[in-house]
Amino acid sequence: MYKLLIRPLLFLFPPEKAHNITLGALRVLRYIPGARFLIRLIYKRRSKSLEKELFGVKFPNPVGIAAGLDKNGDHYNDLANFGFGFIEIGSLTPKPQEGNPSPRLFRLPKDGALINRMGINNHGVKHALENLKRDHPKIVVAASISKNTDAPNELAYKDFARSVALLYDFVDFFVLNVSCPNVPGLQHLQEDSMLSQIIDSVNEVRRYNEFSRPVLLKVSPDMDHSQLDAIIHLALINGIDGIVATNTTHSREGLSTSEKTLSAIGEGGLSGAPLLKKSLETVKYIHQKSNNLLPIIAAGGIMTPNQALQMLDAGASLVEVYTGFVYNGPSFAKQIIRHLKKQQKKKK
Ligand SMILES: Cc1cc2nc3c(=O)[nH]c(=O)nc-3n(C[C@H](O)[C@H](O)[C@H](O)COP(=O)(O)O)c2cc1C
Repeated sequence: MYKLLIRPLLFLFPPEKAHNITLGALRVLRYIPGARFLIRLIYKRRSKSLEKELFGVKFPNPVGIAAGLDKNGDHYNDLANFGFGFIEIGSLTPKPQEGNPSPRLFRLPKDGALINRMGINNHGVKHALENLKRDHPKIVVAASISKNTDAPNELAYKDFARSVALLYDFVDFFVLNVSCPNVPGLQHLQEDSMLSQIIDSVNEVRRYNEFSRPVLLKVSPDMDHSQLDAIIHLALINGIDGIVATNTTHSREGLSTSEKTLSAIGEGGLSGAPLLKKSLETVKYIHQKSNNLLPIIAAGGIMTPNQALQMLDAGASLVEVYTGFVYNGPSFAKQIIRHLKKQQKKKK
């Protein structure tokens, strides 16, 4: 139904408009009696055998929604009804910001991909905080946080610490987004000196609290092995609880979309099918190099249930989807969960 009817209709609209229409429709469903119950009935399955506890957080299943889909934390409870085990809201910055000028989101249907240069547009951390206070999450919520675009990298640590402090009691874990390719210079935050400063300041907030909220780092798929080695080392010695691998890529390698279309689109991070190879390699590498000491949430190019399984087999503990959800529709989490359960049974 989604692929035959709803997706072709949505794809008639520019991508960001289609995104807003979809989220708007979810909001409307809140007010239709029985609608949310019906969605849960169709899409949500309990899966005892897939439940998992990781860095102190209990996940009802290992399939989550990646950062960027619910940028402001307006829809975590709407999306919970579709059977996901967790959601990363954000990325959030201390001050609201507009992001880059439109158009900034593009479909590459021939490649099952998207290119975006949103530039971390969001209503700011306080907006999300108000939502979290008012509407208690019925799903495990991670806050993806980053710095404001106008904050210099040298002071980025202040932005991260501020958001962590504000959200500390209201989310289940944090993901530090130091790998967004769409904010000039932001990926430099992955370098040793700046990343140490950010982690130190976030750890300071953790120390002042009664309990330690898990903090994960989100990495780029465009890093070479020596850069990844440095991140793994830093994460291990500084009590980072895990890695989200990966963000979108700068690469345009092997795409079927024409050069002409790609150059008309211009800059941006590529997500979806063409990203899988890189993100899978990154997951494998981090898993091996960290001796399985760093839990990994895999993201990047998971477009089929079997690709989610591939990520878990490569060493990931959980998976997240964004582009796969756009192309496959609302039943995607259910499809993945069904496949994982089947494989589990086969192994027994
Ligand atoms: C439109 C769009 C917006 C995104 N915004 C963010 C963001 O704000 N923060 C972040 O960490 N990742 C963001 N991402 C990256 C995704 O979280 C994910 O890492 C990436 O898309 C790869 O997964 P996928 O191939 O399943 O889409 C965004 C991706 C897309 C397509």
